[in-house]
Amino acid sequence: MRRKIVIERATRDDEPSLLDIGVRCFGSMGVSHRQLLYQITRAKGIVLVARVNGMVVGGIVCLTHAGWKRAHVYYLAVHPDWRRRHVGRRLLKAAINYAYSEGMVAVTLEVKKDNEPAFCLYRGSGFSIQKLLLDYYFFHDAYRMRAELFPNATRMVNGYSRGRRRLYPPRATGETR
Ligand SMILES: CC(C)(COP(=O)(O)OP(=O)(O)OC[C@H]1O[C@@H](n2cnc3c(N)ncnc32)[C@H](O)[C@@H]1OP(=O)(O)O)[C@@H](O)C(=O)NCCC(=O)NCCS
Repeated sequence: MRRKIVIERATRDDEPSLLDIGVRCFGSMGVSHRQLLYQITRAKGIVLVARVNGMVVGGIVCLTHAGWKRAHVYYLAVHPDWRRRHVGRRLLKAAINYAYSEGMVAVTLEVKKDNEPAFCLYRGSGFSIQKLLLDYYFFHDAYRMRAELFPNATRMVNGYSRGRRRLYPPRATGETR
């Protein structure tokens, strides 16, 4: 039976679940209780969780900063038991929709060069490589990736269409599913 996956804003009660999933995915050095709590309760941006029957099965942290015109994804993780069911894609899409609704012009993130699942997800969601970052994660190289939220605006300024796939703007502002 297919179970309904709901994407919604995280509350402080979700922090232990996000920490647990984060430790499974990134190890205990890759995620911290204090940081997650700060991001959920005080940081500028959004923390979203994916729930199944109330249980958190994944989450995303997408932050902005004063003066930035872009949002940055700091954390995206799906519980190992819930992978390949489009939970990650839906979380990412919801975060992108949020960034768009906040007037951001782009979303950026870093991903380990050899993290094929995440890299494929990002490429398929409209991100392209901006820069190679050598030794970015303790001797692991990474890519900085970026998705433009207003690609058509650039094309209109240039006065012609290059026929790129139109991913944004999203269908409905604030849509989370
Ligand atoms: C990366 C991650 C978030 C993907 O979440 P997910 O819910 O399993 O991914 P989805 O089911 O939404 O997959 C969406 C697309 O991503 C790609 N993808 C996901 N898992 C993949 C895999 N194991 N191998 C290759 N491509 C993969 C595919 O293109 C997939 O589209 P498709 O199902 O139509 O082929 C998940 O694997 C994860 O939590 N990994 C550990 C933490 C991590 O690496 N986070 C990213 C840090 S930058």
